[in-house]
Amino acid sequence: MGFVNQNIKPLNTKVNSKGNIEISGCDLVELAEKYSTPLYVMDRVTLEKMANDYKQAFSNYKNTRMMYASKALMTSAIASIFYKLGFGFDVVSLGEMYILKNAGIDLSHATFNGNNKGCDELEYAVLNNIARVSVDNFYELELLDNIAKKMNKVQKILLRITPGIECHTHEYIQTGQLDSKFGFDLHMIDEAIDLIQKQYKNLDLKGLHAHVGSQIFETKIFEDEIEVLLKEIRRIKDKFNIELNEVNIGGGLGITYVESDAPPNVYEVAEITIKAIEKYCALYELSEPVLYIEPGRSLVATAGVTLYTIGASKNIEGIRKYISVDGGMADNPRPSMYCAEYYAEIVNKKEGYNPEKVTVAGKFCESGDILIKDIELNSPKAGDTLCLYATGAYCYSMSSNYNGVLKPAMVLINEGKSDIIVRRQTLQQLVENDVVL
Ligand code: LLP
Repeated sequence: MGFVNQNIKPLNTKVNSKGNIEISGCDLVELAEKYSTPLYVMDRVTLEKMANDYKQAFSNYKNTRMMYASKALMTSAIASIFYKLGFGFDVVSLGEMYILKNAGIDLSHATFNGNNKGCDELEYAVLNNIARVSVDNFYELELLDNIAKKMNKVQKILLRITPGIECHTHEYIQTGQLDSKFGFDLHMIDEAIDLIQKQYKNLDLKGLHAHVGSQIFETKIFEDEIEVLLKEIRRIKDKFNIELNEVNIGGGLGITYVESDAPPNVYEVAEITIKAIEKYCALYELSEPVLYIEPGRSLVATAGVTLYTIGASKNIEGIRKYISVDGGMADNPRPSMYCAEYYAEIVNKKEGYNPEKVTVAGKFCESGDILIKDIELNSPKAGDTLCLYATGAYCYSMSSNYNGVLKPAMVLINEGKSDIIVRRQTLQQLVENDVVL
C-alpha cells in the first residue's frame, strides 16, 4: 500500500467475514441498506491521513499555508474537518464562503479566487475580512478597490498570473497555458502594479498566484511554476522597488483512479517545491516567501466512494453487455465531461469469482451516461451493490438534478461508525423554488 493518492481505494478497505467489502469497519452492503443508494461515502481516516501527509511533507518549509480547494468537495462537515486539521480554504464563490460561515469558520482563513468574481461576492469577502483576494484581471482590480474604499478598508491581494506552462492533463482542466481565461499574462503585470501603486490605494499587493492545472502527474511542473513566479518577483523588485513575499502555487496533484495512473506522492511534490524555492530564492537573491498551496482533489478523492444498486442489464450478443445503476452523470459527471476513468467492484458476494466484462451505465437519458466502459465485475446481478472508487472529489460538488433526479446523501465513516453529513434531497426541495402557474 503506497501513499493515499497512489491508491485507488480508501486505506482500510477489505473483505469482511460476511464476504462483503468494508471500509474503516463499515460494511458497504449495510451502508447501502441503511442509507439507500446512490450514496456518497467519505472515509475520515483516509482523508485525515492525506491531510496530515500534506502537513508533514511541507513541514520542512515553515512558511507554508495549506488552503484546501473547496471546489473539490464542500460541505459544512468537510469544512469543519479541514479547519480542525489546521487548513485554510480556497473559495471561489459566495456559496463556498457561505458554507464556511455556516460551519462557523471565519473568512480570515480563506483566499478568494475566480476569473469573474461578482460585486456581491467581493463585497461579502471584504466585509467578512477575507485573508486574500487573488485578483484575476483589470476589471476586478478597479471593482475591488472601489468596494474596499467604500468600506474604508485596505484589502490584501495577490495577482493571479498565467505562467505559460502547459501540463499533460485534460484540456478542460489545464489552466496555466497562455491561451487561458484565467489571470494576467506576464506582460500585463507591470500595468497592474503601476495602477495599484498610483491609483488603487485600498489594495495592498502581497504576492503572486498561479495554478497550472489539475490531475498533474509531473513534479517538474511545480518547479517550473516556482521558477516563473520567483523570476517575476525579482523583476518586479528591480522595476518597482517592492519585494512581494507571498507565492501561491495553486493545487493540481493527481490521484490514482485506475491502475495505469501514476501520480507522484505528496512528499515528492513537497521536496521538489521546497528545493525550487530555495534554489530560485538564492539565484534571484530573494528572501524566502510565504508559500500558499491549494490542493483539492488529492485531499478528498481517494477517501470517497459512491455506492449504487445495479438494476437493468442489456446484453448485445458479441458486442457489449450493459448493466445500469441507479445513479450516473448527475452524481458523477466526470466520465461524460472529461472521459474520466473509474474502477469499481461489486461489494457483496466476494467469495467465488466469475468475472464478466460489462459496461456500467447510468440511468440518465443519454447514451453518453456511461460510468465505466469495459470492466470485469464479479457476475453482476440486479440488486447487487456496486462501489465506484475515488469519487471524493468533483462528484458531489459538480452534481446536478438532471432528469429531475434527487442528489444523493453523503455519509462520513470512521472506525465502524457512520454519520450522515449531507441529507438526501427530497422531492419537496426539488420544487421549492418553482412557481406554479
Ligand atoms: N487552485 C485553483 C486556482 C484551481 O483552479 C484549482 C482547481 C485548485 C486550486 C485545485 O486543484 P486540484 O488540487 O483539485 O487539482 N472539475 C475538474 C477539476 C477542475 C479543477 C479546477 N481548479 C475535474 O473533475 O477533474
